[in-house]
Amino acid sequence: AEPWPRYSSKEVAEHSSIEKGIWVSYKDGVYDITKFVANHPGGKDKIMLAAGKAIDPFWRIYQQHTGRGNAVELLESMRIGDLSDPPTADCGSCPYNTDPERHPALIFHNNKPCNAELPAELMLDSWLTPNPVWFIRHHHPVPCINPKQYRLCVDGVGTKKVTLCLEDIKSRFLKREVVTTIQCGGNRRSELDQIEKTSGIPWGFGAMSTAKFGGVYLREVLQHCAGLSHENVEAFEVKHVIFKSLDGMEASIPVEKALSPYGDVLLAYEMNDEPLNMEHGAPVRVVVPGVVGVRNVKWLGQITASRDEAEGPWQRGIAYKGFSPMVKDLKGIDIEKIPSMQDLPIQSAIVTPKAGSIVELDDIEVRGFAWSGGGRGIVRVDVSIDEGNTWVTADLLDGKDAARFVSECSCRRGHFWSLLVNIYHCLSEQM
Ligand code: HEM
Repeated sequence: AEPWPRYSSKEVAEHSSIEKGIWVSYKDGVYDITKFVANHPGGKDKIMLAAGKAIDPFWRIYQQHTGRGNAVELLESMRIGDLSDPPTADCGSCPYNTDPERHPALIFHNNKPCNAELPAELMLDSWLTPNPVWFIRHHHPVPCINPKQYRLCVDGVGTKKVTLCLEDIKSRFLKREVVTTIQCGGNRRSELDQIEKTSGIPWGFGAMSTAKFGGVYLREVLQHCAGLSHENVEAFEVKHVIFKSLDGMEASIPVEKALSPYGDVLLAYEMNDEPLNMEHGAPVRVVVPGVVGVRNVKWLGQITASRDEAEGPWQRGIAYKGFSPMVKDLKGIDIEKIPSMQDLPIQSAIVTPKAGSIVELDDIEVRGFAWSGGGRGIVRVDVSIDEGNTWVTADLLDGKDAARFVSECSCRRGHFWSLLVNIYHCLSEQM
């Protein structure tokens, strides 16, 4: 093959705008990413930080690019040359060195940042997921925050800025407890991948967990610190409440959810009766019941009442928006116009027997879970072993807003495979 043309890092630096083209280097390669920036799953703003530069130091923070995904392959398809003066050594220590130790039972998809799911074998053991095996979905290194130096800033449209320390939060507001399930928006993506390859972490069904969170109601903090309530929210034209994390990400929820007396949005400092740990957002995280995991911002640093929703890939990017199955690429689609994900739809899965397992008995017990977002409860779970011709109603083992279920089914040996593909019928009820 012809050798690649050679460019210096100075020549790469001259290409950092749409007009001149956007080039980056990675290791000893030079790449023209001009056409790709608008479609970058991590957002245009982030990728533009590296325009005209080496992406190596950026990918040391966002190591999901060099893990199992397709980013390296994608980058290679945009190669235009060799770098004549590649970087010699990695600079600085690894930003992930201070991440906490993790339980070996978790199923790890990435380590830097950590993305790990609860294994199916532990899923139905207890209603509340034990803290060490709670699923982990991070975007950055875990920030180390000294609780004594922690400050939460509350500000925004029509309000004055208020700063609270952890003791203020604990002492000025009543402690509330909320039991809720949090689910990552990408949960069960590996099953979608079996139909057609998608991008993102190939989660099984363990990117969800349940805990009893202790903390204070967001609506009470907003009312007391920002004077924000149902009465004045319209006058100020406040539409969203933005949460900024101390790890650099941000996300927002609609103000109706934030202020609703039924919304149960919590600023949590406890998880399953223990102080919230570093992994799951200490000293304070947001818990937004029924809403996609990414809005449950960990390591909360700032709350802002706003007319606009949060900026950034985790709010406005393609990864947190829903498309019809017919959408194969994003040509001609104005992503800004598509609403960001908030409430999650119904979810149910068989946990035992495992998919594809050979069943030796005539009667089997099928166990699983069902859950619905947006404050809707589970009314009924039906199970079918004959491709949906007949259904058995399962017994629900728990409360109404989420359920574990069990069902006795008679089936011929070895038939479990066909049963699995046909169970997904749950009904949910608006509360
Ligand atoms: C996500 C490709 C540069 C920051 C992604 C993903 C791909 C990708 C395929 C989806 C990954 C997944 O979820 O599995 C690329 C390519 C680049 C590039 C081909 C070539 C220049 C950058 C740079 C930055 C960056 C320079 C940072 C300054 C991010 C972030 C995400 C992301 C923050 C979202 C990760 C998350 O949600 O956890 N990128 N990327 N990317 N990328 Fe990049």
